[in-house]
Amino acid sequence: MTNEHGLTKVPYHVAIIMDGNGRWARQRGLPRLAGHRAGTENIRPVLEACVEYGVKMLTIWAFSTENWGRPEQEVRGLIRILSETIDRQLPELHANGVRLQHIGRLDRLPKKLQDKVRHAIDLTANNERITLNVAFDYGGRAEIIQAVQRIIRDGVAPEQVDEALFSQYLYTAGLPDPDLVIRTSGEFRTSNFMIWQAAYAEYYIVPVYWPDFGKEELYQALLDYSRRERRFGLITPQT
Ligand code: IPE
Ligand code: IPE
Ligand code: MG
Repeated sequence: MTNEHGLTKVPYHVAIIMDGNGRWARQRGLPRLAGHRAGTENIRPVLEACVEYGVKMLTIWAFSTENWGRPEQEVRGLIRILSETIDRQLPELHANGVRLQHIGRLDRLPKKLQDKVRHAIDLTANNERITLNVAFDYGGRAEIIQAVQRIIRDGVAPEQVDEALFSQYLYTAGLPDPDLVIRTSGEFRTSNFMIWQAAYAEYYIVPVYWPDFGKEELYQALLDYSRRERRFGLITPQT
């Protein structure tokens, strides 16, 4: 049985590792930040395409814990782009029923930007068309370490620690695991992205750089996903 788009199943939660902005810019003789700007402009159309195809949650990875090690000018530029994008796009995102959430650490961002992010989350908290999780200053290992620290601080007994409890201590507490993780720019690695949550996600790697990833590429990813059999360790007749 396929839906009106020819898909047999649609992932509830899609996560995208938005990679290749720098190479996209270099290809055009532009500074890396121009690639980051183009990449940021690409989020809206991909988000809208997700809505159209019936995806209910989109996570986009915009800045990793490791990205702090990049040249200061690039780091500052990426933080500025986040701030400007919230200013520019929040009213429209809100009007379009997008719920915004943040995944990662907020405390290392400028105070004003932290407030801006919190405001965006509060403002859009009741929107239901699609949820957009922005992973900024996100790293999977840091997330796990923080979870362990908080579990110990809470005095949780060892025998109470199970997968469900541990999940509640992650940044993604209460969110469903990603069903499909897309990585652009052709790199075959997680780079420390959702290493707990994506344990059973389907991966889709596409060679195009993020600013060139459009509706058609998204459709191909969804089509590929819809043809896969997720077995979760079982065998076919069980699934
Ligand atoms: C992804 O693009 C965005 C961030 C990591 C902030 P890159 O900046 O990693 O682009 P490439 O990989 O250098 O092409
Ligand atoms: C991963 O891309 C981080 C984001 C897309 C935000 P990177 O470009 O930082 O990853 P590596 O360094 O190629 O593994
Ligand atoms: Mg990269």
